[in-house]
Amino acid sequence: MRQKVIFGNWKMNGTNAELVTFLKKVDKAAKKTDVVAGLGLPFTLLETGIAKAKNVKVAAQNVHFAEKGAFTGEVSISMLKEVGVQYVIIGHSERREMFAETDETVNKKATALIAAGITPIICCGETLETKEAKKTVTFVNAQIKKAYKGISAEDALKTIIAYEPIWAIGTGKTATSEDAEKVCEAIRKNLTKIYDEKTAQQITIQYGGSVNPSNIAELMSQPNIDGALVGGASLKADDFIALIKYKK
Ligand code: G3H
Repeated sequence: MRQKVIFGNWKMNGTNAELVTFLKKVDKAAKKTDVVAGLGLPFTLLETGIAKAKNVKVAAQNVHFAEKGAFTGEVSISMLKEVGVQYVIIGHSERREMFAETDETVNKKATALIAAGITPIICCGETLETKEAKKTVTFVNAQIKKAYKGISAEDALKTIIAYEPIWAIGTGKTATSEDAEKVCEAIRKNLTKIYDEKTAQQITIQYGGSVNPSNIAELMSQPNIDGALVGGASLKADDFIALIKYKK
């Protein structure tokens, strides 16, 4: 049985004071759910998140794969480990589109994170153009294949996948639960091909793209959707609590 994993992604939002107030409400609520609740935070909020959250996991939103060096503006895996980060979102479409993230860098980051004992949340997803050309599954499967290149089945179990159609991010246009399920099912089939059925059945696949308290229950009821990666609706404590308590 796969665990349900619901993470917020604050993107470039939030102050330390706002996070403290948010966690005062949310951390208690997270204790009472059976989902793994987490927050992808900007680098400047990671230490506060880790200090104040007992029941909410903390993720960074990016990392560099190199150990150290002349990479101005970047942060290494050991720097994140030093502050206690357990998860890192990698390959988010915003990083692919605006900051030159590629399938190859996603693969390098995933490999290095696994080696360091940090869980990568590997994002994938198609543009509207790709969707309209009916190439979603081919495109997403290629992203996944490249992301997992050289990663063993045993290590693949230490990862999470977030399927986030780009056209659904921040637009209010959620994929229908059936469409999201179809792609997540295809991703799982692809994992079966890359690895084997047993491995594929154990990997958590989240959906992301305009998830909110009103649509989460239906999305989560799909057999291959094991969680959500939520942007806008994760910024308000009451909405985030509603998301992690979606079963009610
Ligand atoms: O990482 C989260 C996704 O980009 C979804 O963002 O919920 O604001 O559409 P959104």
